[in-house]
Amino acid sequence: MKAVHIDASRSYDVLIGGGLLSEAGARVRDLLHPAACMLAADDRVFALYGGKVRSSLESAGIRTEVWTFPHGEASKTLATYGELLEAMCAARITRTDLVVALGGGVTGDMAGFAAATYQRGIRFVQIPTTLLAMVDSSVGGKTAVDLTHGKNMAGAFCQPSLVLCDIETLSTLPPEEYACGCAEIIKYAMISSAGFFDSLERTPISEQTEEVIARCVEIKRDYVMKDEFDTGERIFLNFGHTFGHAIESASGFAVLHGEGVAMGMAAITRAAVRRGICPPETAERLCALLEKYHLPTETGYSAEELVSAALSDKKAQGETIRLVLPRRIGECFVERIRKEEIPDWMADGGIGKAEGKGRTE
Ligand code: NAD
Ligand code: GLY
Repeated sequence: MKAVHIDASRSYDVLIGGGLLSEAGARVRDLLHPAACMLAADDRVFALYGGKVRSSLESAGIRTEVWTFPHGEASKTLATYGELLEAMCAARITRTDLVVALGGGVTGDMAGFAAATYQRGIRFVQIPTTLLAMVDSSVGGKTAVDLTHGKNMAGAFCQPSLVLCDIETLSTLPPEEYACGCAEIIKYAMISSAGFFDSLERTPISEQTEEVIARCVEIKRDYVMKDEFDTGERIFLNFGHTFGHAIESASGFAVLHGEGVAMGMAAITRAAVRRGICPPETAERLCALLEKYHLPTETGYSAEELVSAALSDKKAQGETIRLVLPRRIGECFVERIRKEEIPDWMADGGIGKAEGKGRTE
């Protein structure tokens, strides 16, 4: 098992290994001593792992109430979040109790936001079950729901008290969801380490699961500890996300988050090559690695279809938007551009040139 310690406004450990679902109850009891918890999961994840986690929590003497919702990004709404808050009231969850978020990023973001706001804030534990949630969304304290105007438009910074990544849960993950986690892993390598990128080219992620997750969590920890509230350097974690979020939104979330990020990273890197910011080799190696994990690198959405979604991105500030651009594999920088320049950047990235749009056909 590996452990990564994070010192942010709340300090906590991220534990990575096998068998952690069964140990969840004892670990939560010994660390946090709650009388009760609300176990939140989507219907799919609850059917697979809810029973095991519930019995582990109950065996540790923690009264465990369960709340489930239909899986998928379409559930990450104010309405579903409101239902969870009401369920917590009905279950008499108090300020010394806990929320336990079991599942992917949708569950973690939404249950985390409920914990951040219920009775002005209670503690929560993340038990991520997707590769994407293990390497990214369960760590760092961004919690949110989507609004009709865009992704993650209502939310709060709130760090978890413990993160338990049980890598055995990855065995049931559908391949396209596994690939989404790989997209975020490739993102970490692109922004911070040519050596890590080389190792992903050399050895499949599935053959180094614990090490790769721990490496990504360490990279994210370093950005979060420098800029927990996302006013500066944390923006590097959004490499590929400005165009990626726009593609995801334009598809009505038929394009998965990681797929959007893959297309977004490929597009912004092609644009950087075209503008002489990075060498062609950077885009070639990035696209080859994304394709190795069956991730899309092109989209047929036109710039017109994507621009308004890109402009409502949270990286927009006044009349400008910050883009994370690659200088080479393992090194990025931030450039502020005027909003009206976005269509040109998209055109340079080849956006709109592919025949398909992503997972819509
Ligand atoms: P998700 O939570 O929807 O999970 C993907 C699918 O996999 C769901 O259908 C779920 O039921 C299923 N699933 C989960 N675990 C499984 C398992 N072990 N076996 C079988 N099926 C399983 O999505 P996600 O990709 O985990 O997360 C995407 C979300 O995370 C987006 O909303 C994105 O905005 C958010 N996100 C947040 C942050 C952050 O810092 N907070 C970072 C990145 C992404
Ligand atoms: N996933 C982006 C961040 O946590 O800042």
